Amino acid sequence: MAKVRTRNEIRFILNGEDVALTTVAVDATLLDWLRLNRSLRGTKEGCAEGDCGACTVLVGRLSAGRLVYESVNACIRFLGSLDGTHVVTVEHLRGDGEKLHPVQQAMVDFHGSQCGFCTPGFVMSLYALWMRSPEPSDAAIEKALQGNLCRCTGYEAIVRAARAISSYGKAAKDPLAAERKAITIRLSAMKDGSRVEIGVGKQRLVVPANADDLASVLDKEPSATIVAGSTDVGLWVTKHMRDIAPAVFIGNLDGLCTISEDKGVISIGAGVTYSDAFALLSKRIPTLGPLFDRLGAEQVRNMGTIGGNIANGSPIGDTPPPLIALGAQLTLRRGKKWRTIALEDFFIAYGKQDRLSGEFVEAVHVPVPAKGTKFAVYKITKRRDEDITAVLGAFYLTLARDGSVVDIRIAYGGMAATPKRAFRVEKALLGKPWTEASVEAAMAEYVSDFTPLTDMRASAEYRALAARNLLLRFFAESSGTKAPIQVTRYEAA
Ligand SMILES: Cc1cc2nc3c(=O)[nH]c(=O)nc-3n(C[C@H](O)[C@H](O)[C@H](O)COP(=O)(O)OP(=O)(O)OC[C@H]3O[C@@H](n4cnc5c(N)ncnc54)[C@H](O)[C@@H]3O)c2cc1C
Ligand code: FES
Ligand code: FES
Repeated sequence: MAKVRTRNEIRFILNGEDVALTTVAVDATLLDWLRLNRSLRGTKEGCAEGDCGACTVLVGRLSAGRLVYESVNACIRFLGSLDGTHVVTVEHLRGDGEKLHPVQQAMVDFHGSQCGFCTPGFVMSLYALWMRSPEPSDAAIEKALQGNLCRCTGYEAIVRAARAISSYGKAAKDPLAAERKAITIRLSAMKDGSRVEIGVGKQRLVVPANADDLASVLDKEPSATIVAGSTDVGLWVTKHMRDIAPAVFIGNLDGLCTISEDKGVISIGAGVTYSDAFALLSKRIPTLGPLFDRLGAEQVRNMGTIGGNIANGSPIGDTPPPLIALGAQLTLRRGKKWRTIALEDFFIAYGKQDRLSGEFVEAVHVPVPAKGTKFAVYKITKRRDEDITAVLGAFYLTLARDGSVVDIRIAYGGMAATPKRAFRVEKALLGKPWTEASVEAAMAEYVSDFTPLTDMRASAEYRALAARNLLLRFFAESSGTKAPIQVTRYEAA
């Protein structure tokens, strides 16, 4: 591997100012730094776990040479992950002028704020939306605000403000639009291909120069904490006070952020965020679209990665079951050694994955469903938005010309200690006609496949019943014998 240069500072742009930090605690969050070190207190702390959106800021990054701004949760975003980015806080919105920004003025005029605690977070989420979609639909507004909670105003006034922003100014004339070219040049200049290393001994953070460099860093320091989007690791720090040092930050790393399709297989690098992955995945596999809209909220989707969702081995992660049903493969890398395994074989037991010391998830490869096959995924939660799965079922079916089942893969989350296939149910369906009678008969096999638990999300009985009924729903929808029963959102008359 070519030797890489090392630098001992994190460089980024904060609003208009270049920042270079040589002392950064491994677990320092952007929110604490903004409020405590920079006195930028417009960004609030509500929950400190990515749920309420009071801490929303924008982070601009270069993606294939293009500058993109995304809303993120500053409370679980580590300072160490910001190298080469542009951080925009609510204080930057007024530019040098005295007038409020169009987003702020709309919030004032439409009474979108009462106590004001949540308001900067809403403003930043709406700002991100307005930049990419100046005339958003109500559905787009709702989606952009999934991750922002308000306890007193009520959302109607905020939605009215969101609809009206463009009548206060043009997104093309916005201060960020005006400085976009200059920021792109400044960010490009920061990208010098170096590894960043800050701190000494155990209390060190490393931002590798690229995927090859990550491999050599982990080779030498296999027990370091890998941090991708930090939508899990952030909470280890803010909620569980865990020591994550030394940490290796891999978000936005060259060689890990590519997504491509070759011969019907989509390969997603482990550093690709949900938002970037879903843009392509939901185009090629449309039935995945509704799931993605219900995975976390915009801020979480802009940070979290599918690689992290797999690597954490959670039994209730949303992407493993559908990817297992689709027959995905996983590439792992240690030093100069690669191996590719079936994704389902990665999950061994609760908290135990097939990952060797010093190895990392490099990419996941997802076959696009073949023509004529049927695929569906259903997520069951207590509330529609920003909620963790109680039960999630994914189904992939191939029928013969005579209507019998040639191949079926059924995978669940929330039903066992790992994401898991329903092998007995599948076996009971193979070769049988795809009829309600066959499905009803196969449902008896769920007890052999799963012994679900009771927890705060659902009882064991509920999970067992829901899992069976999801198969029935898949049958009804895929066979066209009953009307689809998906309720995606409530539309006011
Ligand atoms: C508010 C909120 C809502 C959420 N909602 C959902 C939801 O609806 N559905 C859902 O499934 N999840 C949800 N999550 C959980 C979270 O988004 C996912 O688990 C996420 O995919 C983790 O990815 P990450 O990139 O943030 O990983 P990180 O937090 O950076 O890392 C997670 C784990 O994976 C390891 N890791 C990361 N990348 C690699 C790699 N390349 N190789 C080896 N190990 C690696 C880390 O060391 C760590 O152990 C939510 C989280 C929050 C905060
Ligand atoms: S403080 Fe609630 S999401 Fe960050
Ligand atoms: S205005 Fe008070 S929490 Fe939203």
